[in-house]
Amino acid sequence: MNRPIPQLGSVKTPREFSEKFFSQFTHLVLPLSAKDESLIVDLNKSELKKISSALNVDFEFEIKRFSNGITAKAGEIIEIPLLSKDSKAELFKLLLVGFGNRTEVEIRKAGTAVGRKVKALKAKVLVNGLEKDAEAQIFLIAAGLSTYTWNQKSGGKNETPEFNLFGDFSKVVDRAAVLLKATWQTRDLIHTPSNIKSPSWMAEQAKKLTKNHNISIKVKAGKELAEFGGLRAVGNSSQKNPPRFVEVSYRPRGVKKSPHVVLVGKGITFDTGGVSLKRPYDTMTAMKSDMSGAAAVLMTVVAVAELKLPVRVTALLMLAENALSGTSQRPSDVITHYGGTTVEVINTDAEGRLVLADGLAYADQNLEPDYLIDVATLTGAATLGLSRFYGAMYTRDKKLAQQLSGLSDFTGDRIWHMPLVDDYAIALESDVADYNHTADKFKFQGGSVTAALFLEKFVGSRKWAHLDIAGPARSEIDAGENVKGGTGYGVRLLTEWISTL
Ligand code: BES
Ligand code: MN
Ligand code: ZN
Repeated sequence: MNRPIPQLGSVKTPREFSEKFFSQFTHLVLPLSAKDESLIVDLNKSELKKISSALNVDFEFEIKRFSNGITAKAGEIIEIPLLSKDSKAELFKLLLVGFGNRTEVEIRKAGTAVGRKVKALKAKVLVNGLEKDAEAQIFLIAAGLSTYTWNQKSGGKNETPEFNLFGDFSKVVDRAAVLLKATWQTRDLIHTPSNIKSPSWMAEQAKKLTKNHNISIKVKAGKELAEFGGLRAVGNSSQKNPPRFVEVSYRPRGVKKSPHVVLVGKGITFDTGGVSLKRPYDTMTAMKSDMSGAAAVLMTVVAVAELKLPVRVTALLMLAENALSGTSQRPSDVITHYGGTTVEVINTDAEGRLVLADGLAYADQNLEPDYLIDVATLTGAATLGLSRFYGAMYTRDKKLAQQLSGLSDFTGDRIWHMPLVDDYAIALESDVADYNHTADKFKFQGGSVTAALFLEKFVGSRKWAHLDIAGPARSEIDAGENVKGGTGYGVRLLTEWISTL
C-alpha cells in the first residue's frame, strides 16, 4: 500500500495566538538550540512568550523534564505531550527539534527527523522557526521525502501527514511541492518491479506523467529505431519487452531566446548483464533500479514545466531491458551507433554506455543543445571511490562543474567532480571497430572514468556533463531523507540548476 504524497502548506500568523489556533494541528515543531550549556527554544523572545502563554507551557521546565541526554544536534527531538489548558485532553505533541547551526545539511536533518517521526500518522504538523526561503524548501522536501513508502503488500493503512510552515512562505511551499512530487514519482518508477516495468510501460508512464503540461512527447519503437544500433543491440535481447526511445520536450511559452538543455537518461528496465551474466548473482536484484537516470530526467522536465522555468529542456529516455536470451548480443559483436560510429562489444554487462551513446549522438546531431547532460547508473566503479552518497560528475567545463557541485548541499543530491583522464583513452582502442566499448586494454582500472571517456566520443563539441549515479540512485538502507530503494536522485539537482540558467 503506497502512501499518498504529503501535502505542504503555510499558515499566516494569526492575530492572536490561542489554544484554539494550535488545536488545528497534531504536532507543533519548534527549533531547539544549545546556548551556554543549556537548551533553549530558538525563537524570538516575544513570540515565544506569546506561544507559551497561549499553551500554558513553561518551556524551560518541560525541556529539563524531557531532554534526557539531548544536546540539540541537528535532527534530535525532544517530544513533549501537551495537555489542553483545562488538562482534560492531550492537545498535541510538541516537538522541539535540533536545528544545529542551521546549515543546509542540518536543516535537512531536522526536516528528515520530523518526517520520520510522523511518517505513518495522519498528522497535521505546524513548523515554526524557519527563517529563509531556502531553509523552508530544504525542510519541507526532506520531511516529505522521508515519509516515502512503496510496497505491494495487500491491505494496510495509507495515512499520510501534512506539513505546514508558520509564516509567509506560500511561494516556496509551491516550489517545494513540485520538487517533492517529482522526486516522489521518480521513486515510484524506480520501485516498480521489472515484471511490470518494461520499456513500453515506461513510455506509457512518460505519456501519463507529462500530460496536462506544456510538454510534447515522441516515442520510437521497432523499425523507427533502425539507426539506434546501441539501443537495439541491448534491447532486442528481450523479445517480450523490446526497446523504446522517448523524447520529451518542454518549450517555455513567450520566451524568445532560451538556452536548450538536453538530458539523456539510462533506462535499463532490468539489467541481468546479458550473456556476460552479472556476478555475483545477488547484485542483480538491485538492477530493477537501472532506469533511475531515465526516470530522473523525465521527472526533471515535468518539474521544470510545472515551475514554468524559462529554459527549453528535452529529455531522451533510452529504454531497454538487458536480458539473457537467444537474441542477446554477444561479446565480440560490432555495432553501429547513431551517426555511424562502430563499437566492438566486449562485456555485455556494460550495456548502459551503448544505449547512452545513441542518445548523446542523436542529441548532438539533431537538437543543438547548449548543455548536454547524461544521467546513468553506469558503473559499480563509481561507488568504489565515493561510496553511495555522492554521484560522480565528469565534465571538461569548469563552470558547469562548479554550478552543479555548488548545489549539492542545498538540493541534497551531492555530486563530486571527477577527472576525464586522457591518458586512459587508449584503453578503448579496438582492433576491429572505431572503439572498444569497455576498457579491457592496459588494465587501467578506473572503470567509471573510462566509461565517461567512452561517452565523450559521442557528444561532438557540445558542453557536456556525465553524471554516474550508480551509488546515490539507490539506497540499501533508510538513510537521511531516503528510504531503502530508489532515491529519486538528480531531480532536485537538475531542476535547481536549470532554474539558475
Ligand atoms: N547497471 C550496472 C552498474 C551498477 C552497478 C549500477 C551497481 C548500480 C549498482 C552497469 O550496467 C554495469 O553492469 N556496469 C559494469 C561495467 C563493467 C562490465 C565494465 C560494472 O560496473 O561492473
Ligand atoms: Mn550492466
Ligand atoms: Zn546497467
